[in-house]
Amino acid sequence: MRTELAQVDPDNPDPLIIERAANLILAGEVVAFPTETVYGLGANALNPTAVEKIFAAKGRPSFNPLIVHVLDEFSAIQLCTEWPTPAHLLVHAFWPGPLSIVLPKLDLVPSITTGGLQTVALRSPSNAVARELLVATKVPIAAPSANRSTLLSPTTAQHVASQLDGIVPLVLDAGQTTGGIESTILDLTAEYPRILRPGPVTPTDIEAVIGVAPELPRGPVEQITAPGMMEVHYAPRTRLRILKPDESPPPSSGAMLLGKSPCGAQHIQMPNEPAEYARLLYATLHKLDQAVVPEIVVEFPPDTPAWSAIRDRLRRASGKQV
Ligand code: TXA
Ligand code: MG
Repeated sequence: MRTELAQVDPDNPDPLIIERAANLILAGEVVAFPTETVYGLGANALNPTAVEKIFAAKGRPSFNPLIVHVLDEFSAIQLCTEWPTPAHLLVHAFWPGPLSIVLPKLDLVPSITTGGLQTVALRSPSNAVARELLVATKVPIAAPSANRSTLLSPTTAQHVASQLDGIVPLVLDAGQTTGGIESTILDLTAEYPRILRPGPVTPTDIEAVIGVAPELPRGPVEQITAPGMMEVHYAPRTRLRILKPDESPPPSSGAMLLGKSPCGAQHIQMPNEPAEYARLLYATLHKLDQAVVPEIVVEFPPDTPAWSAIRDRLRRASGKQV
């Protein structure tokens, strides 16, 4: 299959390109497109044959559920058996944006989309290209990150092409994503809300809206749905290691540093601000992964709530669970 990269204006996408992408999705194909977090690989969430193509393209195990993207609260309610008050408050505060909420699903949502679970993760993206695609297709779009399973998430169309060239028909290229790391996933199916994956919307943000502090992850979200099955996640091909507090980066390594001084050609000073760091995280890992280095070392950011999503992604990239 030939993969086409179509340039689109991130703020004002060309309707003809959106229509082409929408027609592919309505015909049961997959299309890679930008969201404000990372690029997604989308298909009609209600068409099991189309969703199957996402799993095949990614090499993703069938038990790992997909996030379903919707235009707004109204479209989300059509897919769930209940819509509790916290869901209403949270989507009012954070949609469109990087918060996915998990609720019990209606039968309308095929079980392949939710990895066999009776719940569905829903999110309304703010990126204009993603939104126009939802408007044009009028269907919910299931979209995991547009990378091969276990490899690095893509924040540019070139990252997508480097992993999925020849496997997907169309990649909408709107340049680098603005957010950089995947959405926060919040489970609202139990008595207390629980964060399954930390992300841009923090526990403090959530507590401010619903008046209850969410429980924190027991482990990476993949452990919850499939205990112990997926050790390495969001990982570069090159081995990644977290530096000890008193350790200097080896000069031959690729390095992502905060306070420590660079002393090698592939040592990169990262921003000291979490949102800026997040925006560059995957792009930097992709770059270091392409440089020929024996290992990538990372100076671990501070253990504060503002850095927790980034610490989570770095930990997973190193293959560690804790
Ligand atoms: O920012 C994002 O969330 C990006 C963009 C494309 O929207 N998507 C993304 O999808 O990160 P993915 O498939 O790479 O990660 C989705 C995670 C998976 O780890 C999956 O286990 C979890 O969401 N998930 C999906 N549905 C779930 C459910 N019903 N219950 C628990 N976890 C769920
Ligand atoms: Mg992913």
